[in-house]
Amino acid sequence: MSNVIILGSQWGDEGKGKIVDLFSDRFDIVARYQGGHNAGHTVFIGDKKFVLKLIPSGILRPGKKAVIGNGLVVDPVALLSEIETLESAGVAVSANLFISNRAHVLFPAHRMLEKMSEARPGRVSIGTTSRGIGPCYEDKTGRRGIRVADLLDTDFFRSHYDSVMEEKATLAKAFDIYEDLDWRAIRDQYETLAERIRPMVCDTAVLLNQAIRDGKTVLFEGAQGTMLDVDHGTYPFVTSSSASAGGACTGTGVAPTRIHGVIGVSKAYITRVGSGPFPTEALDGAGDQIRKRGNEFGAVTGRPRRCGWFDAPLLRYTAEVNGFDSIVVTKLDVLDEFDNIPVCVGYRIGGRELREMPATVRQIEKVEPVFECIPGWNTSTFGISTYDELPAKAKDYLAFLESRTGVEVGCISTGPERNQTIVRPGSHFEKLVGR
Ligand code: GDP
Ligand code: IMO
Ligand code: MG
Repeated sequence: MSNVIILGSQWGDEGKGKIVDLFSDRFDIVARYQGGHNAGHTVFIGDKKFVLKLIPSGILRPGKKAVIGNGLVVDPVALLSEIETLESAGVAVSANLFISNRAHVLFPAHRMLEKMSEARPGRVSIGTTSRGIGPCYEDKTGRRGIRVADLLDTDFFRSHYDSVMEEKATLAKAFDIYEDLDWRAIRDQYETLAERIRPMVCDTAVLLNQAIRDGKTVLFEGAQGTMLDVDHGTYPFVTSSSASAGGACTGTGVAPTRIHGVIGVSKAYITRVGSGPFPTEALDGAGDQIRKRGNEFGAVTGRPRRCGWFDAPLLRYTAEVNGFDSIVVTKLDVLDEFDNIPVCVGYRIGGRELREMPATVRQIEKVEPVFECIPGWNTSTFGISTYDELPAKAKDYLAFLESRTGVEVGCISTGPERNQTIVRPGSHFEKLVGR
């Protein structure tokens, strides 16, 4: 009986949504532990497409419980709109969704204040999703945030909201980013929304820990990716939460001693949305080819994703920070038409080999990636569902990634659909997510 974390090992959009949806049938509960509606997880089930933002991908499995943990920031407008979209597509959400009373509430003022850092002359923009995620987490660590439990405490909410928003209005005015927000109307709107989410709110740490004591299993779902983690990522070009494995404990209230394994999801290449250093970015036609074949456009903002080659030093770093037992390599099919596939095997600065991931963006920008070219397989892998059927050169490519990262490739994805997936028999992956 395993409780397992599945998270992104690169800069997000690795295909976590597909993988969590696929394997959530092996668990009793799927729990998201951080982020907000900056995430965009696209899942295909037959001809139906679902884009999940705040709700764990496990919700698509009938009868499974889905938890929004205390580590998230929740915009109730976005949440209810996502619930409505899913319910109108026939997914039973309200009965299976549990929202932490300790999660933080995101308000329109957070979105407005994001312009203070993102849109003012002279500031280096992070290229955020403009959802107000950063400012909401700032309020959380600044100890003035409003949590779901506060929103439901009607008298307290009114007075607390007024004082917090007064500060925000003053700040916005001072920085000349004032938007004509109707603060009172927003307060009334949130009070109404509170009643709609109230039946789904509980102490999700109690729920999860009791379930684990009862022998039930939990799949912890990360959003974003390790290189966007506020501590371990390419700071300051990161998101504002703990996307790495440690976040699963702080973001749900389940102790590390109750978790049995960590699985990283990685593309067979790599992408990034927004600004920030990217050592293996392919700025030539190959980058465009990957973008086109992989349909690499953001699920939340529609922005074209920056594309590049698999970065083994980066994966070695994220494997260490997270303790990956195994990785899932997704979108192998996107590389089907390349004659040669470069893989970054080392980092150098000024000709000197680096053994550690540099801590500063200034240094990462100076990295000279060392590439080795692996022969492509030039045949379709799309939809292949057993390891034996893969072309020999595709197997060689995967073996090369394993040798250069030191991590097992336990699962391979060859298309967006559930059945377009290979689980390697006898792998740690199979042991962790298998029955
Ligand atoms: P997430 O944020 O990590 O869940 O990833 P996204 O959903 O943002 O982006 C991954 C995209 O790739 C989605 O549109 C998926 O449907 C798609 N996808 C996932 N796995 C595969 C795969 O193996 N092959 C192909 N061609 N597409 C995939
Ligand atoms: P999923 O879960 C890719 C990026 C943004 C920006 C930075 C900070 O789908 O993998 P934020 O709005 O979070 O303050 O933006 O993080 N970013 C993502 N990139 N996938 C995501 O989520 C992302 N969520 C945030 O582009 O560079
Ligand atoms: Mg995504």
